[in-house]
Amino acid sequence: MTAPASRSASASASAHDVDTRAPILEARRLVKTYGRVVGLDGVGLKLYPGEVLAIIGDNGAGKSTLVKCLTGAEVPDTGELLLDGRPVSFKRPQDARAAGIETVYQTLAVSPALDVASNLFLGREERKRGILGSVFRMLDTKGMRAKAGRELAELGISTLQDVTVPVENLSGGQRQAVAVARAAAFGSKVVVLDEPTAALGVRESNQVLELVKALRERGIPVIIISHNMPQVFEVADRIHIQRLGKRAATITPQSHSMTEAVAIMTGAQTA
Ligand SMILES: Nc1ncnc2c1ncn2[C@@H]1O[C@H](COP(=O)(O)OP(=O)(O)OP(=O)(O)O)[C@@H](O)[C@H]1O
Ligand SMILES: [Mg+2]
Repeated sequence: MTAPASRSASASASAHDVDTRAPILEARRLVKTYGRVVGLDGVGLKLYPGEVLAIIGDNGAGKSTLVKCLTGAEVPDTGELLLDGRPVSFKRPQDARAAGIETVYQTLAVSPALDVASNLFLGREERKRGILGSVFRMLDTKGMRAKAGRELAELGISTLQDVTVPVENLSGGQRQAVAVARAAAFGSKVVVLDEPTAALGVRESNQVLELVKALRERGIPVIIISHNMPQVFEVADRIHIQRLGKRAATITPQSHSMTEAVAIMTGAQTA
């Protein structure tokens, strides 16, 4: 009659403890050197379902190198990557993308001359049904535009009403929104953003942050690199702090103040 109470009680007590959940993406002891420069010096990272993980750190701390190793843009010298608990190794960004990891890099990757819908479908254009598509390779422009419009509306991107506008005519924030929407649009498992708001004004940055929150609401975990502390503290569930190629600490907006986070970043304080 007496159930194994202690076991179930401890399981439910730890249900909210983030470390007991299985990470979607995990990096173990990543090392990446560039000649004599050590970009990453044995860095670990875990990304849990539905969370926003911010990566902060001074210039040159290894933030971009870390996300490049997670997204196939760089191949680590040593270390392990696991996606859904299974070991993976990415030789090229396409490998990570095929596995469901979508990245918006520090240098924005949209094609200015193409319209919004074409940018969303860049590299995975849909063709017309039947012989027109299979033999004549004709694109299903109408279908892609309709889908693009729906996707943007779902993500709450209301400032982009016309998906036939060339991206070069958009504001910086709108372009960034297109890049993020593209990352979000194709059933990705993980979205990675390297400084998505660095070049943007206040209003545009806020748009991108709202988009990050929309992704989280869809259950898509996000890794976001940012130097903007108020933004990081507003949007992140957890904060990975890089310092001199190493992970100095992982904190939360509840556990530490911005001042403390900056102190850990600069080495003035340990976690
Ligand atoms: N392709 C490369 N060749 C040589 N050194 C590199 C290369 N990429 C990065 N590094 C070095 O690795 C270290 C980490 O660089 P990384 O770009 O990851 O820093 P970061 O934290 O993203 O900095 P920032 O905030 O300036 O973007 C730096 O010392 C950098 O000079
Ligand atoms: Mg960088």
